[in-house]
Amino acid sequence: MKPYVYITRKLPEETIAEMTAHFDVKMWDHEDIPVPREVLLEEAKKASALITMLSDKVDAELLTAGDNLKIVANLAVGYDNIDLETATKRGIHVSNTPDVLTETTADLTFALLMATARRVVEAAEYVKAGKWESWSPYLLAGHDIYSKTIGIVGMGKIGEAVARRAKGFGMDILYHNRSRKMDAEMEFGAEYSSFEELVSKADYVVSLAPLTAETRNLFTADVFTKMKKSAIFINVGRGPVVDEQALYEALVDGEIAAAGLDVFVKEPISADHQLLKLPNVVALPHIGSASTETRTAMIKLCCTNVNAVLSGDRPKTIVNKEVLR
Ligand code: GLV
Ligand code: GLV
Repeated sequence: MKPYVYITRKLPEETIAEMTAHFDVKMWDHEDIPVPREVLLEEAKKASALITMLSDKVDAELLTAGDNLKIVANLAVGYDNIDLETATKRGIHVSNTPDVLTETTADLTFALLMATARRVVEAAEYVKAGKWESWSPYLLAGHDIYSKTIGIVGMGKIGEAVARRAKGFGMDILYHNRSRKMDAEMEFGAEYSSFEELVSKADYVVSLAPLTAETRNLFTADVFTKMKKSAIFINVGRGPVVDEQALYEALVDGEIAAAGLDVFVKEPISADHQLLKLPNVVALPHIGSASTETRTAMIKLCCTNVNAVLSGDRPKTIVNKEVLR
């Protein structure tokens, strides 16, 4: 019997071709609807490998549903949706998709920064709504980007790729990270700074931080108060690093100027969420790595990792190295 691989979303057949020859592969039927929990639990009982989305909760119940599971290949660089401790205890490999999405996610981060600063979405809606009746000097005037200071919180590979773009735009660069990044300091003149100093000095506070126990609720009311009143907050990492109520109040009270958000505490965010009512919020549906090329590369990397582990080899990218023997 061939090992059974279950994929929690419908993916284009051609992207998973390298697996179908060796394994019995089944996909959930829908592109846009998540697999129901009961179905996923049933599938996990039989599966040797799961390819999961960041929206799937891969908890202890799921990881212990069956005895065959050897790898969970998550279609994301982040893996906060996975109970890593249980996976590691059970010897289950957890893989993610770093590197292939770095530049694409940095592009989106910068696009969101620029759209928020220059009010691109508001301006486009204004024209289409037929509101443009005369040119005027301060019509939809926004904030400059060049010559301003960007503060990057979470200086991983994506953070460095954002820093490279910021340098090209003539920005000064501050960053905060668990470890110093000497390459970025030399190459882009990025300056290491404490979190407090960064949030108080930056014109653009950009969060790319992964969700961990230390980063959950990192951006509180107190932090927004420390920011400049002209500051623009951009989040392309994970929603729960932000206290959204505090962000809302900071925007309404003028503690900060605007926010560009690709991620939210609860995704999908409800259309009647108070943050979405604000004109100075640009909201996107978690599309950081969503270019066709990159999503295909991410799927292929998941398949490569599944292939490797089910053939007894090392996966190309792994989160819990402890399971490698
Ligand atoms: C997306 O958010 C990812 O983690 O890849
Ligand atoms: C994290 O791994 C990143 O690429 O920023």
